[in-house]
Amino acid sequence: MKNTKIILTEKEIPEYYLNISYYLKKYLGKLPDPPLNPTTKQPVNPSDLSVIFPMELIKQEVSLEEKITIPEEVRHFYKLYRPTPLIRAYQLEKFLNTPAHIYYKYEGVSPTGSHKLNTAIAQAYYNKKEGIKTLTTETGAGQWGSALALAANLFGLKLIVFMVKVSFEQKPFRKIVMQIYGAEVFPSPSDKTEFGKKILKMNKNHSGSLGIAISEALETVVKNKNFKYSLGSVLNHVLLHQTIIGLEAKKQMEKAGEYPDVVIGCVGGGSNFAGIAFPFIVDKLKGKNVRFIAVEPESCPSLTKGKYKYDFGDTAQMTPLLKMYTLGSDFVPLPIHAGGLRYHGMAPLISFLYYEKLIEAVAYDQKTIFQAGIDFAKTEGIIPAPESCHAIKSAIDEAIKAKKEGRKKVILFNLSGHGLLDLNGYNKFLHN
Ligand SMILES: Cc1ncc(COP(=O)(O)O)c(C=O)c1O
Repeated sequence: MKNTKIILTEKEIPEYYLNISYYLKKYLGKLPDPPLNPTTKQPVNPSDLSVIFPMELIKQEVSLEEKITIPEEVRHFYKLYRPTPLIRAYQLEKFLNTPAHIYYKYEGVSPTGSHKLNTAIAQAYYNKKEGIKTLTTETGAGQWGSALALAANLFGLKLIVFMVKVSFEQKPFRKIVMQIYGAEVFPSPSDKTEFGKKILKMNKNHSGSLGIAISEALETVVKNKNFKYSLGSVLNHVLLHQTIIGLEAKKQMEKAGEYPDVVIGCVGGGSNFAGIAFPFIVDKLKGKNVRFIAVEPESCPSLTKGKYKYDFGDTAQMTPLLKMYTLGSDFVPLPIHAGGLRYHGMAPLISFLYYEKLIEAVAYDQKTIFQAGIDFAKTEGIIPAPESCHAIKSAIDEAIKAKKEGRKKVILFNLSGHGLLDLNGYNKFLHN
């Protein structure tokens, strides 16, 4: 009998992160345009970034090395939940009556319930190593905040979190999770920063956005000594840390004796998609025939409807200018339940791959993705995070297409998190 779960041992946890930039330069001969200083319009130099990030992460941001060694202290904490399982979705295949083989990499087994801990542990480690005492960050759905709260605590750092107000209200349990790990959590826009106060003055019921929360977290760092800022997605070093997902998945697909025809992930800032996709994109750059689908919400369609241009990463326009697909740094998406996908921009690396037509993108509305999540829960048992439901919907569509075409197709998607703290959203879907 074929295995349902493909499991690796702790020894098989990757020893390095894979740097896609090295391969882009080698095989494509080009790289994404660099971040610019908004005043001079010149590429930012590393010292500009040192106010907000530790040096080691800045080096990773611009590295062209092929592999970045994962420090032993980081691998030590990865062992709490890694390697994560690769699971063959036999029941979903049967339900869809499809000849497709569907596999999902399940990142929801991490203690905080999503892939975000992969970079949180690494970022907390590098900050601690450089003597930082306090981190600040933003969080949408609360997944990133929970992950960084745990990681900061494991390394003895303090953490201040600005949580997008709509999620703070929709998902009160995530706030409690962060507080259990010792973090201080404020709804954003807050009265703790000048920018937050300015927004509240214009609209005291503002639902918040990731762009605003990032501005508040940055303002707090700039005003305090020995503080640094930590970002849960978008930047090269964050995507780099997530490649551990795809590196494991590749070994697991090999053990299953298969290779994916299509690799799928949802995209907010782009980190879990990058995590599952980059190690396989390397094969595509070398000539292999494999497709990649980035899945976003219709209400925040940065790839499918945005413009590829330089834009700010935050609403207060404090960050360097990033070349990316963007809906505009002042865009406030509808308060959908997939809070982690409510970001106006997209990682420069993902944007570049999309522009170069190495990856595809699709967008779905909220009702459609919740139905896919429920079909998945009823067949595979796991209640997925609303963000991850986007990837599931695309995997289902690809499986249905395979059925129509009457051909076997191997589908791999990233199940970036579980949805056990997102039941409010499911409740509204079921009862409205
Ligand atoms: C479960 C889950 N999946 C996906 C995302 C989207 O982020 P990214 O595109 O960086 O993976 C989030 C963000 O909070 C999330 O919590």
